[in-house]
Amino acid sequence: MKDIFEKIKTNLGPIGEHAKESHGYFTFPKLEGDINPHMIFRNTKMLNWSLNNYLGLANHPEVREADIEGSRKFGLAAPMGARMMSGNSDYHEALENGLSQLVKKEDTILCNFGYQAIVSSIDAIVDRHDVIVYDAESHACIIDGVRLHMGKRYVFKHNDVEDCVKQLERATKLAEQTGGGILVITEGVFGMRGDQGKLKEIIELKKKFNFRLLVDDAHGIGTMGPNGGGTGEEQNCQDGIDIYFGTFAKSFALIGGFISSNKEIITFLRYNMRSQIFAKSLPLPLVYGLLKRLELINKHPEYRAKLWEVAKTLQKGLVEAGFDIGVTNTMVTPVYMRGSIPEATNMVIDLRENYGIFCSMVVYPVIPKGMIILRLIPTALHTLDDVKYTVESYSKIKDKLYGGEYAADKIKAGFSQAL
Ligand SMILES: Cc1ncc(COP(=O)(O)O)c(C=O)c1O
Repeated sequence: MKDIFEKIKTNLGPIGEHAKESHGYFTFPKLEGDINPHMIFRNTKMLNWSLNNYLGLANHPEVREADIEGSRKFGLAAPMGARMMSGNSDYHEALENGLSQLVKKEDTILCNFGYQAIVSSIDAIVDRHDVIVYDAESHACIIDGVRLHMGKRYVFKHNDVEDCVKQLERATKLAEQTGGGILVITEGVFGMRGDQGKLKEIIELKKKFNFRLLVDDAHGIGTMGPNGGGTGEEQNCQDGIDIYFGTFAKSFALIGGFISSNKEIITFLRYNMRSQIFAKSLPLPLVYGLLKRLELINKHPEYRAKLWEVAKTLQKGLVEAGFDIGVTNTMVTPVYMRGSIPEATNMVIDLRENYGIFCSMVVYPVIPKGMIILRLIPTALHTLDDVKYTVESYSKIKDKLYGGEYAADKIKAGFSQAL
């Protein structure tokens, strides 16, 4: 019999296997200073495009003040216990009511982490007779929720409504045999490609199939729709979303998440979502700070307008400069290039060390071999000068990439010392 740790010595996992070279630079980098588009990375100020601080609330003076006031007023420990037992408060309920109004649903339940909210709500809603139909490019939390499911699941090709129909046909046949129901899961905004989920089209399928729809709108809450009510509001189909999920980790610039639905479903989740029944509730200072953030999101549509101005200018500039930004129709801006992993790493080092731009790099195995994505996340705090500088810098590094300057055997002196 083997020691259970034995395998770890030889298999650190697909990302972990690069830890030795990447730790501290490509993985686990430390961005220091106040959260805004200009932050310090390894003692150098960088123009930062890697944070989902979409509306710029992370360091907003009223938010900072509310966070301090909440901590002073309640202390970080309060309330003690799970919501159901001893961890409820008027503030938690006020936040739930406010969020329900924002996303136009009857009721809402707060969750300690967005990830947990999705995993746990899927777990609570489906039983072994039910069938799940979900998008192939779903976020890890959806995949993990589906993994907990003891019944059947069918995956449809990313954003492919025709394939969704095929999977719904299979799911319907099966559910008729088992006596269960169907839960369809997709996202409002896909965080890698930046495309919106085809919510309206999927909801149309309810005319032909009997299913309920869960939408993970982590990126859409606060950013999409005239009031920031999310991708359902943007596509004018919020009513067709049966279970709506939003996180506090992006536009709200904090931590935690929420699920909104009708009263019956939320009451069921309050009493059946294991991650919330058996875990301590969100600390009061966080809830207090979230109420302030919600107030600002409601009061300042101009933050969202600014985000979109930056995003659209950036995307227009990139396209005019000959870049491929794929199928994004949101603020998430992936820039696709072709090259090997060594070329991608050399390019990112050049971008950081010589152009002072910090963004996330995505390569194989997350995307196909030979592709590189340098993803830009615009926020309301970026300026049009930031955009101009970035498009110009990207054009320069693209020319170098295709001119062979980043090839593994042509690493410029100093590049490797950056690591
Ligand atoms: C699409 C999507 N769903 C869920 C999550 C998880 O949310 P949280 O960070 O609040 O746990 C994320 C966040 O990173 C996300 O991008």
